[in-house]
Amino acid sequence: MPSSTADKISACLATEGQQFNFPPLPVDIHFGYGAFADLARHVRRCGGKKAIIITDRGLRRTGWIDYGEELLRAEGIPYAVYDDVPENSSTSAVAAAVARLRDFKAEVIVGIGGGSALDTAKAVAAMATNPGSVADYKGLNNIDCDPLPCVCVPTAAGTGSEVSIWSVITDDQTNAKFGVGSQKLLPRIALCDPELTFGLPPALTAATGMDALSHAVESYTSKESQPISASLAIGAIELIGRHLRTAVIDGTNRAARYGMLLGSMMALMAMNSTRCGIAHALAMPMGSGDLRIHHGTIVGMLLPEVTRFNHMAAPERYAAIARAMGAPVAGLTVEEAAPHAVGAIQDLGADVGMPSRFSQFGMREAHIGPVVQAAMQSDNIRVNPRTPEPTDLEGILRRLM
Ligand SMILES: [Fe+2]
Repeated sequence: MPSSTADKISACLATEGQQFNFPPLPVDIHFGYGAFADLARHVRRCGGKKAIIITDRGLRRTGWIDYGEELLRAEGIPYAVYDDVPENSSTSAVAAAVARLRDFKAEVIVGIGGGSALDTAKAVAAMATNPGSVADYKGLNNIDCDPLPCVCVPTAAGTGSEVSIWSVITDDQTNAKFGVGSQKLLPRIALCDPELTFGLPPALTAATGMDALSHAVESYTSKESQPISASLAIGAIELIGRHLRTAVIDGTNRAARYGMLLGSMMALMAMNSTRCGIAHALAMPMGSGDLRIHHGTIVGMLLPEVTRFNHMAAPERYAAIARAMGAPVAGLTVEEAAPHAVGAIQDLGADVGMPSRFSQFGMREAHIGPVVQAAMQSDNIRVNPRTPEPTDLEGILRRLM
C-alpha cells in the first residue's frame, strides 16, 4: 500500500527508469492573497502601453472588474473592456474581442474570470498575431506566431486555464466544442488570488472543484503519467480531497479557497504533459450541440463511474488516490485498496451536491450513440489506463441516465 510521497509517485511509473518529457511551463505565477493588487505592475512588465480586459458580464457584478480598472487607471494604463464572453466561449466571441483589441490597439491582454473567460483571453492573444479564425488552429501545436502577452486572473478553482496549454472554444458553425493546444497559448503571467474565488456560488464551486479533481485523477492515471506530473497530480488530489467540502459550505474560508486554487493549478500543470482520460473524452461532445451541459458537472458526475471502470487496470495508482483522499485503506493490499478510490470520489461528489442523472440536463438515449462515437475519436481515449470499447462508454453513460 503506497504511503510516502515517493511511493505515490512510484505507483505511477510505467516501468523502472522511465524516460519522460516535462514540457516547459513559462508562466510567471504569483500566488496568494493580495496578488491581484499588483495587476498594473504586471501589465507594465509585459511591455505594453495599452491593455484590454476580457471577462464576462456575471463577473462585472462582483466588483472585481471595477477594482481591476481602478488599478490600471491609478497607474495611468489606458484600457478597453470586452465583457461579452459567453458561458461556453465561442469562435464569434474570440473574433469580436480581437476586433475590439485591434480598434483600441491594445498590446496586453488581461483575462479575468473562469475557464471560459481565460480560454478566450488566451485565444485572443494568439489570434491578434495569427491570421484567420481560431477554428483554423484546432488540435495540438498549430499556432505559428508568438501571441501578445497575456495576464490571466482566475476567479474559479477548476479549469486551471491560467497554466494550461489549452483553450476550449465552441465553433459557432458546427455547435461543437474544440480544443486548441499549444505552448504558445500559455499566458505570460498568472495572478492567482484566492479572494477572487470567494464569490463563486456553492454549486459552481462544487462543479469546478470536481473538474479540477478529474484533471488530477485522469493525469495521475494516464498512460503518459511520469514522475513530475505524478507528484503534481497526487498533491492536487490531496488538496482537493481536503478542501473542496469546506469551500462549498463556507465560500469565504481562506484556507479552503487557497487550497482549492492551488490544487486546480497543480492539476492542470500535471495534465499539460499527460492529457486526460475517458471523462474528458466524453465531456467534449456532452458540452456541445443541443446538450451543452456544464463541463465541470459532466466530468464530476462521470468520474466515479470512470474510476470504477479503470481501477483494475492500474491498482497501485488507484490505491494511492484512495489514500490521498483519506479513504480507510490502512492495512489493505493494493488490490483491496484500489476500489476505495471509487467510493472516495463518489462520497466527495455526493457531499458537495453533484447531480446524479444526466437525464435532468435533457440527455436522452438517442444522445448516447453520437456522444460515444465522438468521444472515441479523442486522444484522451488513447492515454486512458484501460482501453475502452464503445460499449464500455455506453455502459458508463447509461448508469448515469
Ligand atoms: Fe476539465
